[in-house]
Amino acid sequence: MRIIYTDTYQKMSEEAAKVIAGQLWVKPDSVLGLATGSTPVELYQNLVWLHKTVGLDFAQATSFNLDEYVGLAEDDPQSYHRFMHENLFNHVNMRRDRIFFPNGMAADAAREAEDYEARIAAAGGIDMQLLGIGRNAHIGFNEPDDAFARTTHKVALKESTIEANARFFSSAAEVPREAMSMGIGTIFRARHIVLLASGAEKAEAVRDAVEGTITPRVPASILQLHPCVTLIVDHAAGALLSGKSEP
Ligand code: PGA
Repeated sequence: MRIIYTDTYQKMSEEAAKVIAGQLWVKPDSVLGLATGSTPVELYQNLVWLHKTVGLDFAQATSFNLDEYVGLAEDDPQSYHRFMHENLFNHVNMRRDRIFFPNGMAADAAREAEDYEARIAAAGGIDMQLLGIGRNAHIGFNEPDDAFARTTHKVALKESTIEANARFFSSAAEVPREAMSMGIGTIFRARHIVLLASGAEKAEAVRDAVEGTITPRVPASILQLHPCVTLIVDHAAGALLSGKSEP
């Protein structure tokens, strides 16, 4: 695992933008796996800036988002679909027919999950998968469990995740209880995984993921086995890593 230590959230976001922009410059028709949450917000601002100033081109790219809440319509202000459009897609030249989310409104979740996997495979698989990490080391909505989920599936969110995400809603009661998420296997098939972590509340999850036992109780720990992972941490999130050195 390549670890990039940075001082601040801003620097972490800049480094992440360089990695993703580099991918698009080398392979303009890249298939990107994208993530929501607070962590990638400034990374997306950097990508928009690169698009507007130096012409970073998304015209041939395809994206698959990691997850979506069950029961929220696409245009719901809290949907991940809306988040991605507001933070990235509305500001770059990504083709609308190459933007994919698992459909949280699907009547048949199992069928939707299969279709999502098929769409990813038909696109040639994911070249670069962006990930945040939960305080419980979840990736996507793959919560600590007895086994690693292989493919896209419907998940019941843990209480800790509902509490963590309540900040985006008016109350915890409004946070959907279920989501559709890529599985650990889906994520693991990406050719390059870029994991971002910022803030002291992620430090233990980062340490356990990078240096702890590989177990589905720490979902991100499986990334230790992946041949190409870049972890970008700010000072606080990387503070408990034993290999920590100055950037
Ligand atoms: P955050 O979420 O970026 O909002 O901290 C990350 C996650 O829960 O995966």
